[in-house]
Amino acid sequence: MIKNRIIYNTFSDYKFKFTRAQGSFVWDDDGHKLIDFTSGWNVINLGWNHPEIAEAISIQVKKNVYAPMWTADPIQERYAEALTNSLPSSLRAVGRATGGTEANEEAIKTARACTGKHKIIGFKDAYHGQSLSTLAIGYSPNYAVSKAVGPFVPGFVQMDFPGDLTLFSVQLEKALSNQDVAAVICEAGIITGWGSTRVAPSGFLIEIRRLTKKHGALLILDEVGTGFSRCGKLFGLEIENVVPDMVTFAKGMVNGAAAIGAMVTTTEIADKTLSKSNLTSTFGWTPVACAAALKTLEIHKRDKVWEKAKKDGQHLLSVLQSELKNHPLVEGVDGVGMEIGVRFVKIENKKSLSLSVIEKARKKGLHLTYCDDYNHQIMPPLTIEKSVLEKGIEIFVDTVNSFR
Ligand SMILES: Cc1ncc(COP(=O)(O)O)c(C=O)c1O
Repeated sequence: MIKNRIIYNTFSDYKFKFTRAQGSFVWDDDGHKLIDFTSGWNVINLGWNHPEIAEAISIQVKKNVYAPMWTADPIQERYAEALTNSLPSSLRAVGRATGGTEANEEAIKTARACTGKHKIIGFKDAYHGQSLSTLAIGYSPNYAVSKAVGPFVPGFVQMDFPGDLTLFSVQLEKALSNQDVAAVICEAGIITGWGSTRVAPSGFLIEIRRLTKKHGALLILDEVGTGFSRCGKLFGLEIENVVPDMVTFAKGMVNGAAAIGAMVTTTEIADKTLSKSNLTSTFGWTPVACAAALKTLEIHKRDKVWEKAKKDGQHLLSVLQSELKNHPLVEGVDGVGMEIGVRFVKIENKKSLSLSVIEKARKKGLHLTYCDDYNHQIMPPLTIEKSVLEKGIEIFVDTVNSFR
């Protein structure tokens, strides 16, 4: 749909104008104040319009707003140091990007340039970006989008997201055994870009790391959704203490204040590939975005935001699991940290329950986002006040219970 000259992709029915947003709340065009259970899809992890980040931006705007690609503003170097110092010690080289798609493109190109192989293994229904190669990672060829915009970039193999670790291990080893795979790309044990009810058995990332090392493939970890405290750790890689060859970030990096993304790798891989991977990005890491990112990272570490995310996430998950346990239209509730998914039973030829829940919840004061007709993704700001979280949960449960 095109509304007020903006092209919206899907789920337009419940769109509304954002007239204001602060902390854990957003306001619609009728002046209604809504509890936010979206964080703008894992972007606003520290709450809407964080005053300290706004202050950091306004200071930087007065100093310098741009540094050309062949140089670096001191704030870019400071952020590169702060980001890499927060990661495992082998990850010390940063590719600058404007968002998650570009960061993943940089990782894919780096993996191909480093290994001389082109095959990339990903997981069905994982979302890693809107470009023709990142769509190839997880988009089914049967989707309307794939048919309309394909062919995607060749060389991608899609595996089923694992249910059983032993079976998965056998399948992955088989896929890697020809030693012709450049990299496996995945998230840290959950699909945040599409559903959040898809949670891998524990040991998933450890097993991928073991097998990629054994068969000479690299591991790309997409932390665009899991990063910045969302999953109960500062970064998802800490959940199983796995060190990937490349990790990508965006979304929560600046708490929504600017466009930014990053691909972080080892100095060995960067040295080997920098002359052949073309990681130039005109607007990647503007000084203003870096000032916001530096402050965002500082706040996460100062306030140990991940600890509250873990505690609140466990609470949210257990309340939803127990309250919706006997609901005939709810198939399951799952998640990691404050990334929770509610999976509805599929009923053909019926209006999407997800959309109905979103519309009704909004009337009761809760802002939700649409994932697909059967998966409902819940991602409150990690700084949400306890009473506001409880009220949001109450509205959500009441709303789902009103459909039976
Ligand atoms: C896990 C994941 N990776 C990558 C992306 C792409 O990021 P961007 O929209 O910044 O290009 C997304 C976006 O939703 C995502 O959820």
